[in-house]
Amino acid sequence: MHDTAPRPLLSRKALNLKGRIRVPGDKSMSHRALMFGAVAIGETRITGLLEAEDVVNTAKAMAALGAGVSRGDDGVWRVQGVGIAGLKSPDAPLDFGNSGTGVRLAMGLMATTPLTATCQGDASLHKRPMGRVTKPLELFGARFETAEGGRLPLTLHGAKDPVPVTYTLPVASAQVKSAVLLAALNTPGITTVIEPTPTRDHTERMLKGFGAKISVAVKDDGRHIQLEGQHELKAQALDVPGDPSSAAFPMVAALISEGSDIVIENIMLNPTRTGLITTLIEMGGNIAIENRRLAGGEEVGDLHVKASRLKGVTVPAERAPSMIDEYPVLAVAASFAEGTTRMQGLEELRVKESDRLAAVEAGLQANGVTTRSGRDWLEVEGGTVPGGGTVITHMDHRIAMSFLVMGLASAKETKVDDGSFIATSFPDFAGLMNGLGAKLAPASA
Ligand code: S3P
Repeated sequence: MHDTAPRPLLSRKALNLKGRIRVPGDKSMSHRALMFGAVAIGETRITGLLEAEDVVNTAKAMAALGAGVSRGDDGVWRVQGVGIAGLKSPDAPLDFGNSGTGVRLAMGLMATTPLTATCQGDASLHKRPMGRVTKPLELFGARFETAEGGRLPLTLHGAKDPVPVTYTLPVASAQVKSAVLLAALNTPGITTVIEPTPTRDHTERMLKGFGAKISVAVKDDGRHIQLEGQHELKAQALDVPGDPSSAAFPMVAALISEGSDIVIENIMLNPTRTGLITTLIEMGGNIAIENRRLAGGEEVGDLHVKASRLKGVTVPAERAPSMIDEYPVLAVAASFAEGTTRMQGLEELRVKESDRLAAVEAGLQANGVTTRSGRDWLEVEGGTVPGGGTVITHMDHRIAMSFLVMGLASAKETKVDDGSFIATSFPDFAGLMNGLGAKLAPASA
C-alpha cells in the first residue's frame, strides 16, 4: 500500500548528465503479463517485471482471485494460472491503489466469470471515469453497483452466461479496448472491437503470444480486432523491456541539461508508444536509437541522448495516443525550446491520474513559463525558465517527475509538494537521476 505521508522533493540546476542506465520494465506489459498469466494454463515466468506499487497491486489482485503469484530471490516472477474460467470471488475488496490500468483491465478479466468482487483504489482513482468500461462489460452480461457517477468503489458481478459483443470504442483508450478483449476470453463466439484511432497494442500482441484466437484487420473505419473466446491460453516465458514512458524523464533531462550525453538501454520501441521520441527529434533533439533488435515480439533499442537546442513545434492530434502519458514531460522540454510548442488532441489528459492539462499548466506558470490552453490543447512559450515555483502534483507520479526534470535546467530550483507517488511507476527515479549527475533531494514542506 502507498505510504500516505507527502514527500516534498526539490531539483537544482545540474550540468553534464553522463552515464548508461536502465529504467524499470514497461508498466503496460507488466500488468498484462500478470493478468494473462493468471488465466493461462501452467506457469508463466516473468523477468524484468516493473516492481512498483501499481503492478504490485495487480499481482495481489491476481493472487486474491486464485492465481499463484510469487517472486523468486532471482527476481523472476512466477504465476500459476487457473484457466480462463477459473477465477474465484476474492475474500476482501481488491485495492488497485493509483492504477487505472490495473482496475480497468482486471474488471474486463473478471466480467465473464460468475464471481463477485469489490474494486477500490486511492482518492485519485476514485475520481476517474469507470463508465467507459462498465458500459461495454454490461453488454456481455456483467452487472455493477458503483459509487456516484459510475465511479469506484464498485462491486462487479460477473456474467454467468456471457454473450459476445461488437463494440466500437467511443474514446481512444487501450484500457477500454483491453477490458473488452479480456472479457471476450471467457465468452463463447466471436467478440469484435472496432478501434477508430489506434492505441497501444500490447493486449493484442501478448494475447497472441499466449495462444489466444485473435486477429486484427485494418478497415476504412479503423482496426477491427476479433477474439474467439473459450479457448485456453498457454503459460509463457516473458521478458519485459524498459518502459519508454519512464525513459522519457532521463531523455528530456539530458536534452535540456547542458553538456549531457547519456544512454538509456533496452527500451521498448513499439510504434504505438514512440510519439515522444518522434516529437523530440522534430524539435531538434539529438536522439539516436542504437542496437535496434527484436525481443519477445517487441522492437527494443538503446536511446543515445545528447544535450540539444530545441525549437517549438506543433504536435498533431493524431499522435496523442502514441505519447498520451508523455505530455507533461514534453511540456517541460517545450519550456526550454525556442518559440512556441502547440499540443492538441489532449482531451484524455483531463482524466488521467490527475487533470494533467490543468496540473501541467499550473506547474509551468508557477515556474514562470507563459502558457495558453483550451479544453483539449496547450501552448507553451519556450525560452529560459526562471523556476523557483512549487508544483502541486495531485497524487500524480508523472507530474512529480516532469517538474523535477524541469529543475535541472531552470535558473532557480523547482519543488514538488509530494514525490511519494513516483513509487507507483518508477521507485528509484531519484537514485537513477542522481547517478547521472542530477541534484534531486528531499525538501521541507
Ligand atoms: C494504458 C493505457 C493508457 C495509458 C496508461 C496505460 C494501458 O490509458 O495512459 O498509462 O496500459 O493500456 P488509456 O487507455 O485510458 O488512454
